[in-house]
Amino acid sequence: MSFPARVFSGIQPSGKLHLGNYLGAIKRFVPLQDTHNCIYCVVDMHAITVWQDPEKLYNSTLEVAAAYLAAGIDAEKSIIFNQSQVVQHAELAWIFNCVARMGWMQRMTQFKDKAGKNSQNVSLGLFAYPALMAADILLYKATHVPVGEDQKQHLELTRDIAIKFNNDYNVNFFPITEPLIAGETARIMSLRDGTKKMSSSDPSDLAKISLTDSADLIAKKIKKAKSDADNLPFEVAGLKGRPEADNLVGIYAALSEKSKQGILDEFGGKGFGVFKPALAELAVEKLAPINKKISLYLNDKKQIEDILHSGAERAREIATKTMKEVHNIIGFVN
Ligand code: TYM
Repeated sequence: MSFPARVFSGIQPSGKLHLGNYLGAIKRFVPLQDTHNCIYCVVDMHAITVWQDPEKLYNSTLEVAAAYLAAGIDAEKSIIFNQSQVVQHAELAWIFNCVARMGWMQRMTQFKDKAGKNSQNVSLGLFAYPALMAADILLYKATHVPVGEDQKQHLELTRDIAIKFNNDYNVNFFPITEPLIAGETARIMSLRDGTKKMSSSDPSDLAKISLTDSADLIAKKIKKAKSDADNLPFEVAGLKGRPEADNLVGIYAALSEKSKQGILDEFGGKGFGVFKPALAELAVEKLAPINKKISLYLNDKKQIEDILHSGAERAREIATKTMKEVHNIIGFVN
């Protein structure tokens, strides 16, 4: 049986959205709407795997939804909703907790990174999180999932869970989801350390550009971004071993929708004194309109809540059907 193409992706409302979330995910969600049925979720249940202040969680949830809309996701065409409004996510996650094996979960590098030395004192939810992510995707039988590189292992686990469920129950019920990971924007790195990914949990505000940063702040962060003393090379191969230069050229390329080579054709042989102001100007030009739209949407919280509410209704319709079938497959008495 083949599965109709459907896209699902999600973003956690934990902290401010940054350039990595935008280039690695949100920006790529928009064109997929022309070719696929798309479901874009604000994954608030994932966010509480680490402590979230309730008021901040509420505001961040609306902010992620506002960013989806500001970037050009059409709430009529696609489904936009927050995860906790569709209880079936938690239900399927429980079933997947019983399908996934301890060894699979223990291999998840993101858990190891996030838990660090504190692994006995983090929430059980943080450990089980990838099973919830698999549930998010498979509840809608999504065939394609656009994400950044850091989610690759979680998507492999999603495939393993789907395969084991299908084998255990001798069905062809869940699709084997394809990750959509873009080459050049898959991993936007910290502005302070080109070997670390840009992350909302980075303690340094200078390491990341937030979608709500002012034009002045964006320009300041790019000016202060770590670079090196050499001029930019003429060929992409010359970026090897220069992580900060590689990252800044990659950001320029993604924002201008050109290849890295295209950028080096223009800036090869030039120093950061020339390149950084040009990058700052481009970043402000591209991000300011989104920033402005996010603020406009956030002025009308009721409107965003209504969008999430009607999105959740549409999502629930699909989710209810899936869970009914899952119950029958498993042998739960309905
Ligand atoms: P989250 O909220 O950490 O990140 C949201 C999206 O942004 C991408 N991303 C990046 N891309 C490039 N460079 C970066 N520095 C960078 N940082 C983040 C992430 O890869 C992601 O695509 N577990 C997921 C959320 C989730 C999900 C899902 C995603 C829950 N259920 C189902 C897809 C399908 C997460 O924590 O993403």
